Amino acid sequence: MFDIAYLDIPPLTGAGGTVRLPGSKSISNRVLLLAALSHGNTTVHDVLASDDTAVMLTALEQLGCTVQKNGDTVTINGLAGQLRTKKASLFMGNAGTAMRPLTAALAVLGGEFELSGVARMHERPIGDLVDALRQLGCGIDYLGTPGFPPLRLYPAVLQLNTPIRVRGDVSSQFLTALLMALPLVAQQDVCIEVVGELISRPYIEITLNLLARFGIRIKREGWQHFTIPKGSQYQSPGHIHVEGDASSASYFIALGAIADCHSGKNGIEIKGVGSESIQGDIRFVEAAQMMGAQISSTPNSLHISRGAWPLKAIDLDCNHIPDAAMTLAVMALYAEGTTVLRNIASWRVKETDRIAAMACELRKLGATVEEGDNYLKITPPATPMAWKTAPIHTYDDHRVAMCFSLAAFNPARLPIRILEPQCVAKTFPEYFETLFATAEAKTSQIPVICIDGPTASGKGTLAAQVAHQLGYHYLDSGSLYRLSALAATRAGVGLDDAAGVACIARSLHISFRGDQIYLAQENVSEAIRTEEAGVAASKVSIHAEVRLALLALQHSFRSLPGLVADGRDMGSVVFPDAPLKIYLTASVHHRAERRHKQLISKGNSATLQNIQQNLEARDARDMSRQTAPLRPADNAMLLDNSDLSIEKSVRQVLDWWQGTRPF
Ligand code: DC
Repeated sequence: MFDIAYLDIPPLTGAGGTVRLPGSKSISNRVLLLAALSHGNTTVHDVLASDDTAVMLTALEQLGCTVQKNGDTVTINGLAGQLRTKKASLFMGNAGTAMRPLTAALAVLGGEFELSGVARMHERPIGDLVDALRQLGCGIDYLGTPGFPPLRLYPAVLQLNTPIRVRGDVSSQFLTALLMALPLVAQQDVCIEVVGELISRPYIEITLNLLARFGIRIKREGWQHFTIPKGSQYQSPGHIHVEGDASSASYFIALGAIADCHSGKNGIEIKGVGSESIQGDIRFVEAAQMMGAQISSTPNSLHISRGAWPLKAIDLDCNHIPDAAMTLAVMALYAEGTTVLRNIASWRVKETDRIAAMACELRKLGATVEEGDNYLKITPPATPMAWKTAPIHTYDDHRVAMCFSLAAFNPARLPIRILEPQCVAKTFPEYFETLFATAEAKTSQIPVICIDGPTASGKGTLAAQVAHQLGYHYLDSGSLYRLSALAATRAGVGLDDAAGVACIARSLHISFRGDQIYLAQENVSEAIRTEEAGVAASKVSIHAEVRLALLALQHSFRSLPGLVADGRDMGSVVFPDAPLKIYLTASVHHRAERRHKQLISKGNSATLQNIQQNLEARDARDMSRQTAPLRPADNAMLLDNSDLSIEKSVRQVLDWWQGTRPF
């Protein structure tokens, strides 16, 4: 996951491959709550691991449920309709799918509860649900602004003989909340009457479908009257599978529609959701087809490739796909003509005001956008030259972040900066990793920051921290020479046998797992860090054949979204086209002192004098060798960190980097 201030996505040129979707958020949170309310144990498979489901699970545990997690499987010991805890303060984050149904369930079951969330949650309306529950006699107070969370619930006597009226035109989640709560108190038939036009009906269909799986058969007349039959009782189905998230699928459906495939892979295959999905957003497929995508499906998968290009502009009522429709707004950037998305008023009360947010960010890219109360009209930039780029605000809204990543296919080949990209964790924590595994970019467009310099100049620490802050990959090229030397020694190959060591270097079986390095299956992280291993590495690194043997391996680290590489010749030989090269140094005295401290802290005894002599000898060898001698690359920025803290060095590099960016 990218927990960073911003993520720069280089210009993308194509995409292909298979995508496995995370579980649906709407299904996960509904199923978790239903399992908690049921008689019996329920094992829920393929649960989405995300912020919103974490909020729900924590709340259920606070209410006395036993929850066992095992990967993406969760087993819940149901409460059989009875709360074990009658008093609790529950934090709902920004999860509407937890806030609304829990409010209803706890209000009818009775107890003293407080439900609150993040600041945005306290701006998201809940008044229509509270009004409906108050008709039943439920005790609910607003703790802040009337009509909005936070709420306090207290016990009350329920009256169930008159139909409960609830508005359906702001959020369908209010009706869902009542449909899930009222079976808990169905000592008689309980009727719900929807006032106003019910929006987002597909979500009600998901609710009804899942209620049926848990033994509750709701009777309905049209979309206005719902009856929960007398004697309804939640019964666990034992096991239940969560479908892949159809809203999350929309980004990859769009990807297949927008991106050509150059790598020989045949379009985008999405696994986990298909023609038999119970989620309303699966109908995004039809909208994407209208815009030109070629899509085929199986019950549990989708296959997408580019059809019409440019895409075709559409004029669509999006009431049936409220969340996925946001993706159409970005697809509209690649369409010929003006796309109109209608009936999207509910966007205004989601994670952010999505109509305003999309309009504002689309304009930053050069689109012409007309924003109405309940519609958006989007006209793409008239020519490739009319595209612009700017940091995209994400408003703590996962969907804004995911949508705008698709703008990286712009014909102007501009990178896209997504601010606060970790907001995708709400529903799709691995979104960007999944995108980068399928998207293609020209190698020359994948940025590399090179940090070269002598031994113990602090390259490794600096490079790793810069990589972390930018969400880029990190290559410690010295480790490859250290590994080659270690593998050669173990194989009985002399360090001066250039051809022998090169042969070993070409067939290294190495893997990086977090910050640990493995040679075959052995963790050699410690073994390659000794002084002897460093000296041995320096010896093998003088051989041109060894350097050549390691070239392809080093190039393979240049992958999306970018790379920070440290070594001796990153800027001069390995990545000569890197947009930023830094030559990092410090006086030999400072470097010897740092290495001395490091060794002492690891319990090694070494004298400062010895270390300094060793460093000088290694510098001399690295600088005087024939092939790729250590020297600042042409146009490298010089950074002497003798008197700089690590933070200041990182800041300096990031400032230089920012200077190369178009934002
Ligand atoms: O950065 P380090 O101390 O891990 O490097 C070990 C040796 O490997 C060093 O003496 C020189 C060599 N090396 C190299 O020649 N080229 C690189 N790009 C990185 C390291």
